[in-house]
Amino acid sequence: MRERILAPSILAADFTILGEQIEQIDKAGAKYLHFDVMDGKFVPCISFGFPVLETIRKASKLVYDVHLMIEEPGRYIPEFVRLGADLVCVHLETLKNPAEELQSIKSLGVKAGLAINPETPVESVYPYLEYADMVLIMTVHPGFGGQKYIDDCTAKIKSLHEEIERRGLNVDIEVDGGINEETIQTVLDAGANVIVAGSAVFNGDIEANVKKLMEKF
Ligand code: DX5
Ligand code: ZN
Repeated sequence: MRERILAPSILAADFTILGEQIEQIDKAGAKYLHFDVMDGKFVPCISFGFPVLETIRKASKLVYDVHLMIEEPGRYIPEFVRLGADLVCVHLETLKNPAEELQSIKSLGVKAGLAINPETPVESVYPYLEYADMVLIMTVHPGFGGQKYIDDCTAKIKSLHEEIERRGLNVDIEVDGGINEETIQTVLDAGANVIVAGSAVFNGDIEANVKKLMEKF
């Protein structure tokens, strides 16, 4: 079984005390920090970008997992990497040449992830699995935290897991959206191993929330 990793999404954090909250997720045992970049075009919202990443990079040694919900991601990737991204995830829906984009991310010395929206068929990533370190299956429509998990996505996780196993590939499966104490078991059972959680981590006692989710691992 691949290592199971919790990736708290700071989109749901309290930005007035962001540094402290990052220390808390780190102390509680999360391995990744999920950083949601939104451009107001690929998704309806605008979130945060370069200066925030640059500042919080100093706050911890977590793996910084940068999820680019933006059009023309290639224009911005080198700068995200320079500022400290360890893993860069781009949306298939935004790419003209996914294989090339994934290879160019890896050539910068970081891991490359390929994300798909709920309505994008999972088979559409199969031609690119050899080029990806991770596939991100969105389990809500991207753009906002705090939405409800879309049940239809479970079958996509299962199919992807089977395809990766069948081909003997070394690819992580990340899930993002609506993951909480109720839904986490479903995605783990389906084969996901990198688990994003925003509102389920940052509402209330952060350390306790991280531990409760990781108990399911
Ligand atoms: C949604 C983002 C998510 C979001 C998840 O577009 O990609 O990472 O922060 O938030 P929750 O866990 O609250 O659904
Ligand atoms: Zn995300």
